Amino acid sequence: MTNIKKLIADACASSIGTINPSASVSSDTVMSYLEYPPDRAMGDIALPCFKFSRELRMAPPKIAEGLSAAINNSGALSGKVDMSVVGGYLNFRVAEEYLRSSVLPVILELGEDYGGSDEGKGKTVVLDYSSPNVAKPFHIGHLGSTVIGHSLKKLHEFCGYKCVGINHLGDWGTQFGKMIVAYRKWGDREVIEAGGVDELVALYVRFHEEAEKDAALEDEARAEFHKLEEGDPDNLALWRWFIDVSFKEYNVTYKQLGIEFDSYAGESFYTDKMPEQVELLREKGLLKLDDGASIVDLSEYGMPPCLILRSDGSTLYPTRDIAAAVYRARTYDFDKCIYVTAAAQSLHFAQWFRVVELMGYPWADRLVHVPYGMVSIGGEKLATRTGNVILLKDLLKTAIDKVSDIITTKNPSLEGEEKREISEAVGVGAVIFHYLLNNRIRDMSFSMEDALNFDGNTGPYAMYTYARTCSIKRRAEADGVVPSCGTITTEEERQLLITLSRFGEVVKGAVQEYEPSLVTRYILDVCADFNRFYHDCPILNAEDEGVKSTRLAITTAVNSVLGRALSLICIRKTEKI
Ligand code: ARG
Repeated sequence: MTNIKKLIADACASSIGTINPSASVSSDTVMSYLEYPPDRAMGDIALPCFKFSRELRMAPPKIAEGLSAAINNSGALSGKVDMSVVGGYLNFRVAEEYLRSSVLPVILELGEDYGGSDEGKGKTVVLDYSSPNVAKPFHIGHLGSTVIGHSLKKLHEFCGYKCVGINHLGDWGTQFGKMIVAYRKWGDREVIEAGGVDELVALYVRFHEEAEKDAALEDEARAEFHKLEEGDPDNLALWRWFIDVSFKEYNVTYKQLGIEFDSYAGESFYTDKMPEQVELLREKGLLKLDDGASIVDLSEYGMPPCLILRSDGSTLYPTRDIAAAVYRARTYDFDKCIYVTAAAQSLHFAQWFRVVELMGYPWADRLVHVPYGMVSIGGEKLATRTGNVILLKDLLKTAIDKVSDIITTKNPSLEGEEKREISEAVGVGAVIFHYLLNNRIRDMSFSMEDALNFDGNTGPYAMYTYARTCSIKRRAEADGVVPSCGTITTEEERQLLITLSRFGEVVKGAVQEYEPSLVTRYILDVCADFNRFYHDCPILNAEDEGVKSTRLAITTAVNSVLGRALSLICIRKTEKI
């Protein structure tokens, strides 16, 4: 067993009765009390005993002493974990021997499978993420949905869930009416073929400028969208072409990010699946007419009404989401359907989640909205309609170019295709890491300088550390050194192994909280401990052969954990930098 916290929690839970026979505390409860003290001199793991004061009616130091004695008596932790009482805390120190015999061999045996679980076996999770709006900019605001979504997919897969990643493309809606009007008035096929999404966006921006002066344009746009919904062949052909132009470009970005989807069923896919749901809403008496539009009144739940049909009969964003959820429930029979979007859409999800519950769908409580905060660059907010936006492709390109320059000065021997590949992996990795270091719900200010700092808490630093473990492994192989789990001789090794033992718990927490940043921060912990070990303890230059092999084994374990952790947050590993 590599979950040391669980080992300790079990020992505490079963010893509590010795202090007070009428008291009972579950292992899970103890687990939630256990802390990793920021000051490691306090022990590896600490139990603040005041948490039991009420249950046991005793002073915390007495509880700590009582527990320590009871656990010692039971022998549950003997040879594995030592205890000491400091005030109201019971501190635990993990024994070298336990790490050597029970933690290190498990990591070596499982390799990159270490840290995963089968808690999701037999369960299906649908993840709806990235989902840019065709012919609108694929901007930095979509970075969150794209990388949080994909990371959550990888995390769930690592815990045994079957996952379906869906790009719910914004390929339907009145904006296509606007695009059709704008294209017919001011567009040029060749210019768009050559300029891609930027040209489509320029048309979209122009539409809004002109519509300020001439309100009739909005009516024209609505009429064109209505024709599109009715299947007008000319409008359909234009619409398909807008999607092709956009996708050609998105695919470049997805390829750089290393992201693929299992389904690209966008909003348009549900066109023929909406009438059934609208009918059901009507049958259940949930639809109300409001100024010609059909709505579901949610005032009872403290929310504004959910719009289902406009007065001209055309459908809306929530209508399509409802039809999509029904389709997914029927097609995938999901245990969870996760939607990753900006927090600005929280109300939208709360509304239609409530609507499907009112419709009586039994899976309504399996829908999960995972919101994230806003991204600004240098504190500036990013608007969509004005054209003043940072595109994801430009952001990635800047990062890749900068890394390429850094490599030119730092490692001039790297050239050609290899240099290009490494620059791309590190540049993109820097952006993702910087973004995913942030607690998802917090607004963040993106700083390219911080993201690319090789000496900071960054992607390049983490990737560099990973590459260092690869190079040690390569050298060991050339020297014929074989890893083995011998005696742990230094505090640096002990600390590092304790950090590695936490991996499974970190993965579990990240899945439970839908929070990839827990993995990102954990990667920094592993890197810090590994680099301390690397600087203070000679590895392949160790004099003693046993020490050398053990340190190689520890380095190999770090290599597997870092490798897996990086890929969980969508970072492409490079064996060289
Ligand atoms: N296309 C939307 C946007 O860019 C996000 C779609 C999210 N998914 C959903 N099922 N509503 O804002």
